[in-house]
Amino acid sequence: MSTVESAPAPKVNPNAPTEETVLSVEHYTDRLFRFEISRPASFRFRSGEFVMIGLPKTEEQRKPLLRAYSIASPAWDDKLEFYSIKVPDGPLTSRLQKIKAGDTVMLGKKPVGTLVLDALLPGKRLYMFSTGTGIAPFASLIRDPETYERYDEVILTHTCRQAAELSYGLRLVNDVREDPLVGEMVGDKLLHITSLTREEHPLKGRITTLIKSGDLFKNAGLPPLNPAEDRVMICGSMDMINDTKALVETFGLTEGSNSKPAELVVEKSFVG
Ligand code: A2P
Repeated sequence: MSTVESAPAPKVNPNAPTEETVLSVEHYTDRLFRFEISRPASFRFRSGEFVMIGLPKTEEQRKPLLRAYSIASPAWDDKLEFYSIKVPDGPLTSRLQKIKAGDTVMLGKKPVGTLVLDALLPGKRLYMFSTGTGIAPFASLIRDPETYERYDEVILTHTCRQAAELSYGLRLVNDVREDPLVGEMVGDKLLHITSLTREEHPLKGRITTLIKSGDLFKNAGLPPLNPAEDRVMICGSMDMINDTKALVETFGLTEGSNSKPAELVVEKSFVG
């Protein structure tokens, strides 16, 4: 007598990325674009965290290619937004920049990160120093009502090479102020300071130069960095993070984490 074995049930990896739908794509320059994807009801994150994002595998690939991306949308939004650089030869972004509404994007299941409010001690002012696409986690945080519950003043700085690269942040801040949900909490607490390094602009120079010279503070009518009152988050390229962090530490601020909150947190913006 022969026995018929039933086929084993396919193994389901509970941590496998989910397939999400692209809802919108907007290109700013030949180097920058943003996109929105569907958000599974079970997907939870804290504003400022990042998650793995990728594209379904092609015939040549064994696995989908995934990269860490800061979530730019706030935790209350039913969509997920990302702000990305386009690297011409980048394994992921060279393909990702071609996505259109209706396409599929892979979304990791475990958002993580250090640029979160819980990693900082209470304070009076929250500085967010960003360059380029490093503004993304702050796009989430400045739309989170908790940011304004915790701080009297929120100062977002964004430094780019050229004016066109400021567009995303300028519209973001404008929309936050007008938002029916968050706008009232934001009031006049949010200060957006832009500077450029390779084109004319009212404020010129790297964030490190502006902190060192004191022009950043003079310009905004703010006192110099003070560990008793000020908290700092930093996001940009690796060099920008290292240099800005070292400078902020000279004012007496120390690095915090989820388990040991302090005055300063950093995170690199992931590019690929
Ligand atoms: P710069 O034009 O002087 O290089 P990128 O697109 O290369 O990430 O740069 C974004 C912005 O960050 C640019 O304005 C750039 O200035 C600035 N930047 C680059 N490296 C640093 C650094 N080590 N410290 C501070 N700002 C930096």
